[in-house]
Parts: sequence; structure tokens; C-alpha cells
Amino acid sequence: MAAQSFVYSGERKPGPRRHHTGSAPLRDMIRRPALSLLLLVSAAGIALLSGCGPSLGPSKPASQLTPQEQSGHAIYERDCAGCHYANHTGDLHGPSLFGVFRKKYLPSGAPANDQRAIPVILRGRNMMPGFGNQLDDQQLQDLLAYLHTL
Ligand code: HEC
Repeated sequence: MAAQSFVYSGERKPGPRRHHTGSAPLRDMIRRPALSLLLLVSAAGIALLSGCGPSLGPSKPASQLTPQEQSGHAIYERDCAGCHYANHTGDLHGPSLFGVFRKKYLPSGAPANDQRAIPVILRGRNMMPGFGNQLDDQQLQDLLAYLHTL
């Protein structure tokens, strides 16, 4: 026993003493899950703020809209903006349409494509009124073109 402790102290390097006590691994065990949780919460927060996960970037800027998309934007402002946010997430009277066609699914769970969105726009859905009487085919196409920029 005396020999072992002699060897041990012989290997000790000079300088500040490092205390490898039993509490160090315990501290790590507590700290690491706390860190992971923090990261998880931040990631969830970012996902919530952007509304659609980290992969969905911003909508096309208004200044870059084509004439057709601008026409659709005007129709959106007139007919849709009162119930749907376009540039950020969150429900108004209806679900946000931010990134509506860049996501895989419409809020209802239907695939996000024109084929599924057109009947909703023309005939309405639950609390949403239909706009079939107010939009001619060109206006519908313009509106869809704009919705694709969101
Ligand atoms: C009076 C409010 C109101 C107006 C105006 C309105 N919506 Fe909606 N919209 C809703 C509501 C409420 C829903 C959710 C319907 C549901 O699934 O119960 C909805 C759902 C939608 C959906 C998702 C459909 C799905 O399958 O999830 C789209 C796309 C949509 N609206 C587009 C539009 C467009 C484009 C306009 C303008 C032409 C418009 N809405 C005008 C209230 C409105």
C-alpha cells in the first residue's frame, strides 16, 4: 500500500491540482441533458417562429413579384387577407397561408397542390366562403400564382 501510494505521488505533475472527485461525472450527467433540452427548446422555438420548420425560407419579396403574381396579390388583399396571414404564421379567421404550397400538406392535411386548393377557393370549406362567383379563370390563375410565392 505504501509502495503504491509512493508510485502514484511520483507520477503527479507539478502545477495546479486537478480534483477528480466522484462529483465530476455526476455534474456532467446533469449538465448534458440540460444542454440538450435547451437546444431542443431553442430549435422548437425557431421552428414555431418560422412556422414551418427550419427549412422554409422567407416568401418571395413583394418587389420581385411578376405582373401576374402582383395581380394575384391584389386579389389576395381584397378577398383573402381578412382571414389569412400571408407572411407569417398564426391563425387569423383561417389558417396562415405562409408557404402554403412550399409545404407538403394544406392545413386540412390534403396534398398542397392547385388541384386540391382550387375547390376550396371556388366553393369554400367549412367556415371559409367560396369565391367561385367573384373570380374568373384568369383571376384564379393569378391568385394561385401569388399563393405559390408565399
Ligand atoms: C371569412 C374568412 C375567410 C376568407 C375571406 C378566406 N378564407 Fe380561406 N379559410 C378560412 C377558414 C376558416 C379555413 C379553414 C377551413 C377548414 O379546413 O375548416 C380556410 C382554409 C383555406 C385554405 C386551406 C384549405 C385546406 O385544405 O386546408 C386555403 C388554401 C385557403 N383558405 C385559401 C383562401 C384564399 C385563396 C382566399 C381568398 C380568395 C381565402 N382563403 C379567403 C377562412 C377564410
